[in-house]
Amino acid sequence: MSEVLIITTPAELRARSRAWRRDGMSVALVPTMGALHAGHMSLIADAASRCDRVIVSIFVNPLQFDRDADFTAYPRPIDDDVAACRAAGVHAVYAPTAATMYPDGHDTLVNPGAIATRWEGEYRPGHFTGMATVVTKLLNTAEADIAVFGAKDAQQVAIVTQLVADLDIGTEIVVGATVREPDGLAMSSRNRHLTDDQRRAATSIDEALRYIADEVAHGADIDHAVATGREIITAADDTRIDYLAVVDPRTFEPSDTTPARVIAAVWVGDTRLIDNREIGTE
Ligand code: PAF
Repeated sequence: MSEVLIITTPAELRARSRAWRRDGMSVALVPTMGALHAGHMSLIADAASRCDRVIVSIFVNPLQFDRDADFTAYPRPIDDDVAACRAAGVHAVYAPTAATMYPDGHDTLVNPGAIATRWEGEYRPGHFTGMATVVTKLLNTAEADIAVFGAKDAQQVAIVTQLVADLDIGTEIVVGATVREPDGLAMSSRNRHLTDDQRRAATSIDEALRYIADEVAHGADIDHAVATGREIITAADDTRIDYLAVVDPRTFEPSDTTPARVIAAVWVGDTRLIDNREIGTE
């Protein structure tokens, strides 16, 4: 099994990436907050199929958590994560501390625009500013050819795509497909917080998304399809919907034309899950 370099400072990461590129190799970055699961491993495989060198960043970014309890409870199995990266042939893991990322005196935030005001932006104040700030720092430091993000965080992908264009960042954004459990539940680091009953209830999210996507793709009335989707989710125990909506896949404004995305954020017990499905071809 190949060794994986552990890098902890921006200067070291930039130097390593530059050295690889100077040697004619292409470089991919897979930004993560760790607690790696099959969804992440699929992004890593995607990165490895496109570039000579793969960097996985693992950083639980305090700036993007709107609830202290969520930040504290976020799983941090760093040894398992490094082992998974090693087994997957990752070349470098970038795992800075919070003090390295945000030293005393750090005073600049990246404030994304209109896309970030809706849905997740509304329910999680400050989340997208924290996410955009850390992603900008990671992209600036890694200077990678591509960065791979998961489609499960569709609004994040739209914001990062806009950010890279607006700030003239030279990294191509690649979107990896959502990986699902056999019963449809999207893989997420937060799934491990679910009890067995909640885990069963959580399958209602994908059931509703698939129902809505299918109905709307076949010309059904969007409001009616979404209302039925809400019933599917709320019929499951211990669920509460933050939002369930059909949106334009680029602007995230509500949409009544295809292509579109149906997006959801649902509490199952104390765990908040997000997911989405494509409607028509984007
Ligand atoms: O999607 C995530 O895991 C995070 O939002 C990211 C992109 C790693 C930034 O912290």
